[in-house]
Amino acid sequence: MNSPISRVFVFLLIVLGVYLWIGYSITALTGSGDKATTVVEITPEGGEAIYWGKGRCFTCHSVGGQGSAVRGPNHGQFGEKFQQAMGARATERAAARTEKEGVEFTAVDYIVESLASPGAFVVEGYKNEMAVVYAPPISLNLKEIKAIVSYMMSLGGDLDMEAIDSAPSEITAKLYSKISAAAEAGGGDPELGAEVYEDNCVECHALGEEEDGEIGPNLSGIAATGLKFISESILAPAKSLTKGYETYVVINNEGRQFIGLKTRDGDGEVDITNALGDVETIAKADIKEIRIDDTLSIMPDDISEVLTVKEYQDVLSFLMLQKPAQEE
Ligand code: HEC
Ligand code: HEC
Repeated sequence: MNSPISRVFVFLLIVLGVYLWIGYSITALTGSGDKATTVVEITPEGGEAIYWGKGRCFTCHSVGGQGSAVRGPNHGQFGEKFQQAMGARATERAAARTEKEGVEFTAVDYIVESLASPGAFVVEGYKNEMAVVYAPPISLNLKEIKAIVSYMMSLGGDLDMEAIDSAPSEITAKLYSKISAAAEAGGGDPELGAEVYEDNCVECHALGEEEDGEIGPNLSGIAATGLKFISESILAPAKSLTKGYETYVVINNEGRQFIGLKTRDGDGEVDITNALGDVETIAKADIKEIRIDDTLSIMPDDISEVLTVKEYQDVLSFLMLQKPAQEE
């Protein structure tokens, strides 16, 4: 153990150990990054700090004479164009929303909506380019959003913390659950997720009463199964085969093989529906072998390779919004 070589070896091991330890601690640190940012308080001051910091609102907005960005509306009272600061202005905008949607919008509802669904109402004279602030790279969580809403309301409006935090209206509560579903799914954007779903999933799945794909299970209410189950179902479909959707392998007397779901069994025949939705009817007398292959799902297991990480997070957040109907 005293040769120079073994001493160098021991030294290398120690260096490696230190590096691993540092790496580990840094990962642990960044891993808890989310928690660190939730220390924000739901107050106008907390929101103000996010506005001029992590939220990057200042890159497009100004507040009165504070800041110089003009891509989005000024949130303060400023010149002819902005006669009311955001909190007061929100009441007028809410009236416009009420008229258009036929349901009562409050000022808080309006501000929450402008953050949760920026495209829902585009301020005249501006483009639909407000950032999705709960998705990467900004990734505000729900608490930070509430803090921002209180900051916005404090600019000339009636600051009602109950409406913002503890007792939100129905509209605000719904928008909040959209934001938290998105934040939980790594900051995915459910609206973009709906498109990913449309492009990759509807051929096999349906939601609610829609008449889309019938090969896989209906996904309405899937949010109740939780984020972990849903992501596993997408990443490794065969690992969590849904009951009733087992994959059958049928070999007929001629040695031809059919793989798919058993979608009918009776009258001396079975129907096997493959991943493309094609149905093969096979007479039972013609079956040499029929078995379930539980290592195989009809759902393709390479979907995660087709989707980008962003699309995966988007579709996850979209599915996290598919709550069971009874809960609403
Ligand atoms: C990339 C630029 C950009 C960023 C970043 C951005 N916004 Fe916006 N925002 C806009 C634009 C453009 C509009 C006007 C179009 C619209 O209504 O969607 C807008 C509209 C709004 C409105 C409605 C304004 C009104 O007069 O009715 C609010 C409230 C708002 N943004 C808040 C925020 C907050 C809070 C942040 C930071 C968390 C933020 N925005 C970040 C561009 C941005
Ligand atoms: C070729 C058909 C097909 C496509 C395309 C497909 N799936 Fe599936 N999916 C299935 C089948 C069949 C099952 C049931 C077997 C299983 O659990 O793997 C399933 C199961 C699931 C489950 C579990 C459902 C439950 O109730 O247990 C989820 C979640 C899911 N799919 C999501 C998706 C998403 C998201 C996409 C698009 C990105 C997608 N699927 C694309 C066929 C498909």
